[in-house]
Amino acid sequence: MQTSFRNIKGTFDVLPQDYTAAGNQTHGSAAWLFVERRIREVFERFDFREIRTPMFEPTEMIARGVGETSDIVTKEMFAWTKGDTNYVLRPELTAPIMRAYLQHRLDQQGPVQRLSYLGPCFRAERPARGRFRQFHQFGAEIIGSADPRADAEVVAVLMAIYGAFGIENLRLRINTLGTPEERTAYKAALRTFLTPRQEALSDISRERLDKNPLRILDTKLEYEQALLENAPILTDFLGQETRAFFDRVCSYVHDLGIPFVTDPKLVRGLDYYAHTTFELESDALNGALAGAGRYDLLAKDFGNPNPVPAVGFAAGMERLFVVLSDAGYVFPEVSAPDVFLVAIGNEAENWAFRKAQSLRKNDIRVAFDLKGRSMKAQMREADRSRAPLVVIVGDQELVSESVNLKNMAEGTQETIPELDLMHRIKRFSSK
Ligand code: HAM
Repeated sequence: MQTSFRNIKGTFDVLPQDYTAAGNQTHGSAAWLFVERRIREVFERFDFREIRTPMFEPTEMIARGVGETSDIVTKEMFAWTKGDTNYVLRPELTAPIMRAYLQHRLDQQGPVQRLSYLGPCFRAERPARGRFRQFHQFGAEIIGSADPRADAEVVAVLMAIYGAFGIENLRLRINTLGTPEERTAYKAALRTFLTPRQEALSDISRERLDKNPLRILDTKLEYEQALLENAPILTDFLGQETRAFFDRVCSYVHDLGIPFVTDPKLVRGLDYYAHTTFELESDALNGALAGAGRYDLLAKDFGNPNPVPAVGFAAGMERLFVVLSDAGYVFPEVSAPDVFLVAIGNEAENWAFRKAQSLRKNDIRVAFDLKGRSMKAQMREADRSRAPLVVIVGDQELVSESVNLKNMAEGTQETIPELDLMHRIKRFSSK
């Protein structure tokens, strides 16, 4: 079989089975469903309610929310124009969720909204292990609480999800970015420090020096990291209130018994953050498993007269899969049908076709052949389906209103009245 069409670079198909493409192991749909179910169970345990927003949004809203100078907005948007409107495939969900929260007045549903999500996002990045152009985020946002326990609660639910898969060896880094005013003062100091040294910076950092010097702190280049060792640090520019808030967040996370380190260089790549930020990392992968933080001013950026305190995290599904594969995680097998119907001859095929329908109406999972093949081929198919019971019917059985029922594990076969079939399958399945 052949086609010259291919899925677009940086995207992937989820098939019923696992496969490997471009160095990425792609898990089958049963593994996805299993992981998604488990994530949703943890969200429920923490009393989060799922929210779903459209795959595309107005470009202006995403640009305003995520930040005009961020990599996402300057380089990574899949955006287009139709008529008078600019659209973008959503690169993340925090901005869309805040838009939905304000638009639908969700504050009227209760002072604190705990919203969770799971779904595709799109960024035009260079594909690599755990990095795609269409990827999936799961995440949670707590909107309406300025309490540092909300920040700790976001940490807790994220760690509980990894914990639910038995993954524990992770690194959690926490920082505070303070208020915009504190950051402005720090940015100026950082610029003053770096400007005379800009010859030693990479092209990208030199570009950032002007627009967004904080992002230089994020550098992975060793010579830049060395250069930054003597740079002013953000912590020194934070006021009493910011420090006190951050101390409370840290002590709540500590109270939960969750290990973490504080890292004043953790700046994050999205512009809506103020105060707490955190990231989760693993040895299995370059790049973060999850990114998070507080974004109290986003509502105001979206035109709300008052700020709305909010904090949340988002994590990459594909990156969770990398960590799970690395840990040798064994996913449950795809569930098999209860029974496979093997029919020999036209009459029997028609019988099987109708029988499947009546068994299914009684909650029995049924599979049968749709190609009119030989008995041997049908038995091979039955075997592959892993159905524990196989019903074999030919013209003779139709005349005597009986069927052959084969127990695949034991290899035994008996002829039973057709009328007893449903009861026998149910009795077997309930064992
Ligand atoms: P982010 O750090 O841009 O934050 O993305 C969160 C996570 O999404 C990353 O840690 C990573 O696991 C995954 N991710 C991002 N880009 C890709 C990609 N190209 N391929 C695969 N996975 C990727 C946010 O999106 C914020 N909305 C997080 C947040 C929620 N802050 C507050 N609330």
